[in-house]
Amino acid sequence: MNQQIVIAVVGSGYVGLVSAACFAEMGHRVICVDNDEEKVRLLNEGGVPIHEEYLPEILSRHRGGSIEFTTELHRATSQAQVIFIAVGTPQSDTGDADLSYVDAVASEIARSIDSYKVIVEKSTVPVYTNEWITRILERNGTQKDTFDVVSNPEFLREGTGVTDFLHPNRIVIGVESERAARVMRQIYGPLTSGAYYNLPHAVPGSRSANNPPPLLKMSTKAAELTKHATNAFLAMKISFINAVANICDAAGVNVEEVAEGVGMDERIGPKFLRAGIGYGGSCFPKDVAAFRWVAEQLGQQFDLLAEVEKINSQQKKLFFRKIRSALWTLRGKNIAVLGLAFKGGTDDIRESPAIDIVNMLLKEGCCVTLYDPAAMERTKTVIPPGPQVRYASDMYEMAQDAHAVLILSDWQEFAAIDLDRLRNALRHPIVIDGRNLFDPELMLEKGFTYFSVGRPYPTTSVKALKTL
Ligand code: UGA
Repeated sequence: MNQQIVIAVVGSGYVGLVSAACFAEMGHRVICVDNDEEKVRLLNEGGVPIHEEYLPEILSRHRGGSIEFTTELHRATSQAQVIFIAVGTPQSDTGDADLSYVDAVASEIARSIDSYKVIVEKSTVPVYTNEWITRILERNGTQKDTFDVVSNPEFLREGTGVTDFLHPNRIVIGVESERAARVMRQIYGPLTSGAYYNLPHAVPGSRSANNPPPLLKMSTKAAELTKHATNAFLAMKISFINAVANICDAAGVNVEEVAEGVGMDERIGPKFLRAGIGYGGSCFPKDVAAFRWVAEQLGQQFDLLAEVEKINSQQKKLFFRKIRSALWTLRGKNIAVLGLAFKGGTDDIRESPAIDIVNMLLKEGCCVTLYDPAAMERTKTVIPPGPQVRYASDMYEMAQDAHAVLILSDWQEFAAIDLDRLRNALRHPIVIDGRNLFDPELMLEKGFTYFSVGRPYPTTSVKALKTL
């Protein structure tokens, strides 16, 4: 029988809110805390501040029952047996993670410890953070035997966060005491025992009662490093395939054929080998920089990561060169832009390569018409509508009379666009695809001039363009 635990989750961003909702879904009682009063009010009134598949359903199932939202950090941490810290760890000017929120929460937790509690780092943090949290608690008068600090990094992706959380590849827990390990095993028991997957309302995914996820126990420092190393490796895979894509472009080879051939090697694997305009989001850019900083602090040069970052930022510039070579001059051109989020399936525009490319277009004097299924409201706060900037209500309105359309996020619904309608709406049938969503042969058949990343255009026209 799985035991219900009272959990406080501090911070209700993507990781905090998804974790809180999923813990409630797994049968625990959850108090989710955020200092943003507006967000807490919205959550209490039934709203969902982020775009995540299954999140609205799960929240409505448990709101008013096993999950509550509050701004009262002290009350939440006093009532909870386990406190997850899921506050932001933004990048500071020097590249390292700014841990001031973690510090502030740890000091507050110290004031509410009156019985044994487990404090869990869920935010991505540098190695040794658990030791700092321990030190802060002790400095604030907390007795050593009344708490344990655990590292339980999260590997969820935005957009598919709920599925990733409930159907994980692995659950990593970094612990130094058997007492804390027991509590963590109880929390994840519904997943590791497989019991959750038998529930009638279970969110579907790759795990099942017969194939539950493994729980990997290690030291806290190893868990902290596992998170940074995982994100850095995934970012490296993307930069690697992007560098290969640029060679493919020059050699007239399709990078997808190469990626398939390479990815079938079990030692490499097929995922995260999609070439494009580079990685963005609130994790990879920040975590690669933070990991490099951590290495430096420990006296190690991790120059490979500097190269990963360099390739990533070059990728946007190379794509911009493609736009220029397709359109020749840019000033005064109307460019339709499909996709603003840092990837499909999310409304998040943090470090989005799409936003950088739109800003480059505006700087060159283009007029842009923007469309994204979920990220337009957020984009309006950084690129407000004006004489150069219009927002469209659908993909076809966006394309109306444009000199070209750019594809900058990989939303599934973009791949399902009616190509005939798109071609008829455009002034010139030019598509410059930064996410390789379409088959170049099909685009040719449909009458488009089509450019993508690392895939040759199947006519001689591209050769002509290359000589320009
Ligand atoms: C990433 C990791 O995938 C998660 O495992 C991790 O938990 C999370 O960071 C985090 O640290 O919180 P996320 O940032 O949501 O998740 O997005 P990803 O799906 O990993 O995509 C990151 C970027 O890489 C996007 O811009 C995406 O378009 C790009 N990408 C991804 C590629 O360009 N090519 C690929 O093959 C895959």
